[in-house]
Amino acid sequence: MASYDGLVSTVLWAIFVIQVIEFSHSNASTNVSTNVRCIGAEREALLKFKHGLTDPSRRLSSWTGEECCKWEGVECNKKTGHVLKLDLHNPCIEEIDIKVFVPSNKCMLGGNIVPSLTELKYLKYLDLSVNNFSTQKIPTFFASLQKLEYLNLSHASFNGNIPRQLSNLSKLQYLDLSINFDMGYLTSNDFDWVSKLSSLKYLHMSGVNLSKVKDWIGCINMLPSLQSLGLSYCRLQDISSSLQANFTSLRFLSIGANNLSSIRPWIYNFSKLEHIDLSNEYDNVIAFVGIPYPFPTAIIENNQRLVFLDVSWNLLQGDFPKNLSSLCKLQFVRLNHNLLNGNISDILGDSLGCIQSKWKIFDVSDNNISGHLPNRFRDLKELEYLDLSLNLIFGSIPASLVELVSLRTFDLRNNKVSGTIPESIWQLSNLKQLLLGSNFLYGVVSELHFENLKSLIRLDISSNQLILNMSSTWVPPFQVREIDLSDCKVGPKFPKWLQTQGNITKLRMSNASISDDIPDWLYDIFSNIEVLDISSNMLRGQVPQDIGDKMPQLIDLILKGNNLTGGIPNSLCKLNRLNGISLSKNQLIPNCLLNMWAIWVLDLSDNEFTGRLPPFGPQFPELLVINLEKNRFVGGIPPQYCQLQNLQFLSLAQNYISGPIPNCFDGILSMVNVDDKTLFYMRGVDVMVNTKGTSQIFGNTLIYFYSIDLSANMLDGQIPEEFTKLVKLENLNLSQNNLSGYIPSNIGDLKNLESLDLSRNKLSGTIPPGISSMDFLSLLNLSFNRLSGPIPSSNHLQTVNNESVYRGNDRLCGAPLLNTCPGDEPPGSDGREGEYSKGDKPSEGDLDIRNWFYEGLGLGFMVGFLGFCSVLHFKGSWRVSYFQAMDKAIEKFSMTTMITMLWFKRTFPRCKKELV
Ligand SMILES: *[C@@H]1O[C@H](CO)[C@@H](O)[C@H](O)[C@H]1NC(C)=O
Ligand SMILES: *[C@@H]1O[C@H](CO)[C@@H](O)[C@H](O)[C@H]1NC(C)=O
Ligand SMILES: *[C@@H]1O[C@H](CO)[C@@H](O)[C@H](O)[C@H]1NC(C)=O
Ligand SMILES: *[C@@H]1O[C@H](CO)[C@@H](O)[C@H](O)[C@H]1NC(C)=O
Ligand SMILES: *[C@@H]1O[C@H](CO)[C@@H](O)[C@H](O)[C@H]1NC(C)=O
Ligand SMILES: *[C@@H]1O[C@H](CO)[C@@H](O)[C@H](O)[C@H]1NC(C)=O
Ligand SMILES: *[C@@H]1O[C@H](CO)[C@@H](O)[C@H](O)[C@H]1NC(C)=O
Repeated sequence: MASYDGLVSTVLWAIFVIQVIEFSHSNASTNVSTNVRCIGAEREALLKFKHGLTDPSRRLSSWTGEECCKWEGVECNKKTGHVLKLDLHNPCIEEIDIKVFVPSNKCMLGGNIVPSLTELKYLKYLDLSVNNFSTQKIPTFFASLQKLEYLNLSHASFNGNIPRQLSNLSKLQYLDLSINFDMGYLTSNDFDWVSKLSSLKYLHMSGVNLSKVKDWIGCINMLPSLQSLGLSYCRLQDISSSLQANFTSLRFLSIGANNLSSIRPWIYNFSKLEHIDLSNEYDNVIAFVGIPYPFPTAIIENNQRLVFLDVSWNLLQGDFPKNLSSLCKLQFVRLNHNLLNGNISDILGDSLGCIQSKWKIFDVSDNNISGHLPNRFRDLKELEYLDLSLNLIFGSIPASLVELVSLRTFDLRNNKVSGTIPESIWQLSNLKQLLLGSNFLYGVVSELHFENLKSLIRLDISSNQLILNMSSTWVPPFQVREIDLSDCKVGPKFPKWLQTQGNITKLRMSNASISDDIPDWLYDIFSNIEVLDISSNMLRGQVPQDIGDKMPQLIDLILKGNNLTGGIPNSLCKLNRLNGISLSKNQLIPNCLLNMWAIWVLDLSDNEFTGRLPPFGPQFPELLVINLEKNRFVGGIPPQYCQLQNLQFLSLAQNYISGPIPNCFDGILSMVNVDDKTLFYMRGVDVMVNTKGTSQIFGNTLIYFYSIDLSANMLDGQIPEEFTKLVKLENLNLSQNNLSGYIPSNIGDLKNLESLDLSRNKLSGTIPPGISSMDFLSLLNLSFNRLSGPIPSSNHLQTVNNESVYRGNDRLCGAPLLNTCPGDEPPGSDGREGEYSKGDKPSEGDLDIRNWFYEGLGLGFMVGFLGFCSVLHFKGSWRVSYFQAMDKAIEKFSMTTMITMLWFKRTFPRCKKELV
C-alpha cells in the first residue's frame, strides 16, 4: 500500500521515472566475474563505508567475508579486481499507476558517507539514489573520485550547496542530482563548475535551487556532448531572449516549473528532441504567472522524433494542435491544464496521422475541449491512460470505448456527459481507474458493469444521477483502494459487498440515500482506511469506543449529517494522522480532544455540544479550520485562539458565547502576514469543478479561505482594533451580538475583505470612510445599529450601495438612503446622486468590474485578474475537496512566490471560461 506521505511527490516521480526509459544504464557496468579477487584495501574501505550507513532493511547483509566483488551492489574489474561500480540505489519502488511511482522508505539507506570511499580509486559508477542522507551535504571528497563517469545522487535527500569541487570530475558523463528536496534543499549559486564537466552527456538537477544562477544557458553551451538536460523546478530565472542555446543536439529536455514566463523561443532551434517536458505544474499548481499564448506548433514541426511531449500547465490558448498525429513515435501526450479549444472526436478520432498510433498516455484534462466522444476510436490500441476530465465534453459514453484495449485509467470526471454507463465497459479488463464523477450520467449501475474488471483499484461515479443495484450476494472481482459513490443512490441498505473490499483506503459515500444501521463489520474490515466519509445519510448507531484502534490510519473521518448517537470515542484522540473529524449528533466533547495536536480541521458544527469552548492554543500548530457553529457553547472566547498561528477559518456562530472579544486576534499570524508561508492554499490542491456548483468542506459550503464568523452570540464590548490587522481576512461576521462602541476607524485596511457583516449590534458613531476603499467588498451589512452621520460614498459595487445595508440606523444620512445629510446639496445637482434619485439603476456591478479588469490589464495583469475573479466568480462555482488536498509534505515548497502561484490557480481557471 502506498505510503501517504510518499504519494505527495508522485508527480515528480512520474516525471523522472518516465525519463529513466531513455538512459537506463551507463557503459561503466562490467560483467561480474566469479573468480575475481577483491583488493583488501578496497574491501576495508567498503566496510568502513558500510559502518557509517544505517540500513534498517539489511540490504547490505551480504557485505561480509573476503569476496567483496560479490557483495550486493558491488562490481569489480574482471582482471584487476578493482571496484568499478557501486550501485546502492533503493530498489523498493511501488507502481501506483502508469505514471505514478512511489519510493518506499522501507529499503532506504541513511546515515553518513565516510571518506573511506575515496579509497576506491577506480570507481567509475556510483549510484546512491532514492536513499535518505538528509543529515548531510554532498561530500566534497566525491571530487577526488577522479575516474567517475556516472554519479547518481537523485532522490537521496542531500541538502546544502553542491560542492563546486565536483568540477574536478572531468570524466563524468552522467550527473543526476535531481529532486533532493524531501528534507533539505540542494542549491547551487553558480554554474561555472558545470561548464567544466566537459564530458557530460546527461545533466539532471531538477529540484535544485538555481535561483541565483545567472548564466545557465551560457554554461550549458560549454558542454559539447550534452544529450539530456533536466532542470525542472529549479527556479531558473528568465534570462534575456538574446541568449541562444547552442546545445541543439539535445534529445531530452525537461525545463518546466521555473520562473520562465512562457516557452522560450530558443527551444524552437532544437530539432532532435525526443522528450520535451515543459510542464509548469508543481503539486497541482501552476508554477508561474503569465499571460496566455498560443501553442508553439514549431516544436511539433521541428522534432519529428518526439516520443514524449508535456506542455501541461502552460496557459496555452487557441486551437488544439492539429499535427500531433503526424508524430509517429509519440507515446506520451500531456497538454492538460491549458486553455485549448478543440473537439474530442476530432482529436481522438483523427485518422489522418500515422497508421499505427503509439499513444500510451493522453492527458488533456482541464482545457476547453468539447464535442462528444467518437464512435470509433482511431487505432489507439496502446493507450493506457486517458484523462479528459475538467472539460466540456457532452453526449454519452460510446460502447466503442472498449476498442481501447490497453486502457488502465479512464478519467472523464467533471464534464457534461450524460446517458447511461455502457455495460460493455466490463471488457476493459486492464482498467485500474474508472473515474466518471461529476457528470450527468443516469440509470442503473449493476454488477454486470464490473464483471471482468479484476484490476480496478479506483472507482469514482459520484455526483451523477446513478442508482447502484447490486445483488446482496455479489462478490466484486476487484479489490479497490479508493471508491467514491457520493450522491449515488446506494441505499437504503448499507452495501454488503463492501465487506469484501478490505484494501480500501478511501471510502466516500456521502449523500447515498442509506438509512440503515452502520454495520459492525465496517470498523473491522476497513482496517487500512484513511478517509471515511459517510456523511449526509440516515445512518444510525454509535461510533464504537475502539474506532481508533480498529482504524489506526484514519486521516479524515466525516460522519456528519446522520443520526448517530453517543459521544466522540476517546480512542480517536490517539490517532496521530487524523487531519480532521466531523461528527454529528453527539453530546460531549471528550477532554482528550485537547490531545489531538496534529489535527488540521475540526468541524463539530451543527451538533448539540454544550459547555465552554475548548481552549485550543499554541500546542495546536497545525489547526487551520475550527468550525464550532450551531452548538450550545457558553462562556467567553478563549484568548488562546489568538495563538493559533495557522488558523484561517474560525466559526463560532450561533452559540451562546458571551463576554468581550479578546483584543489579541492579531496573533493569528496567518491572517496578518501577507507573505508568510501559510500553507493552506498549498494544501488546497485538488480544486475541482462540481457541476452542482458548490464549494465544499466536509459538506459545508466553503466560500472564504480566510474567515472569522462570531455571529449570533451574546458578545459585548467593542470591536477590537486588532481585527484591522488581519489583512488577509475575506469574511468578517460579527452580526447579531451586543457589540457597542465605534467601528474601528482603520477598518479599510482589510483590503481583502469580501464580506463584512456588523448588523444587529449596538454600534455607534460614524462609518469610517475607509470602507469605501475596500476593493473586493461585495457584501456589506451595517443595518440595525446606532450609527450616525454621512454614508461614505463608495463607487465600486452596487451591493454595497443598497439601502438595506444601512437600514435601521436612524441617524445615518446620504445616498443610498433617502434622507440627505444636513448641509448637503439636494439630490439632482450631483450627477451620481441625481441618477439614483431619478430611480435609474446604477450600472451593472459586473460591467464596472469588467472595465476595471481590463484597465488593470495594462498596469498589473494579476491584480486586475484577481479582483475580477474573486468578486464575481469564485463564490459557489468551485468545489475544494479539502482533504485530498491535505498532503503534508507539500510544506517542502515554502517559496513565497508559490503563494502567488496558488492565488493564481485559485482564480485563474475559474475565470477562463469568461475570458475566452
Ligand atoms: C538515477 O537514479 C534514479 C533512481 O534510481 C533513476 O530513475 C535515474 O534514471 C538514474 N539516473 C541515471 C542517469 O541513470
Ligand atoms: C558474463 O560472463 C559470463 C561468463 O564469463 C558470460 O556467460 C556472460 O555472457 C557474460 N555476460 C555479459 C553480459 O557479458
Ligand atoms: C529521513 O531521515 C530523517 C532523519 O534521519 C527522518 O526524519 C525522515 O523521516 C526520513 N525520511 C524518509 C522519507 O524516510
Ligand atoms: C581537484 O583537482 C585539483 C587539480 O587537479 C586538485 O589540486 C584538487 O585537490 C582536487 N580537488 C579535490 C577536492 O579533489
Ligand atoms: C556553443 O557556444 C559556446 C560559447 O558560448 C562555444 O564555446 C561552443 O563551442 C558552442 N558550441 C557549439 C556546438 O556550437
Ligand atoms: C489487498 O490487495 C492485495 C493485492 O494488492 C491482495 O493480495 C490482498 O489479498 C488484498 N487484501 C485484502 C484484505 O483483500
Ligand atoms: C434518529 O434516531 C432516533 C432513535 O435512535 C429516532 O427516534 C429518530 O426518529 C431518528 N431521527 C430521524 C430524523 O430519523
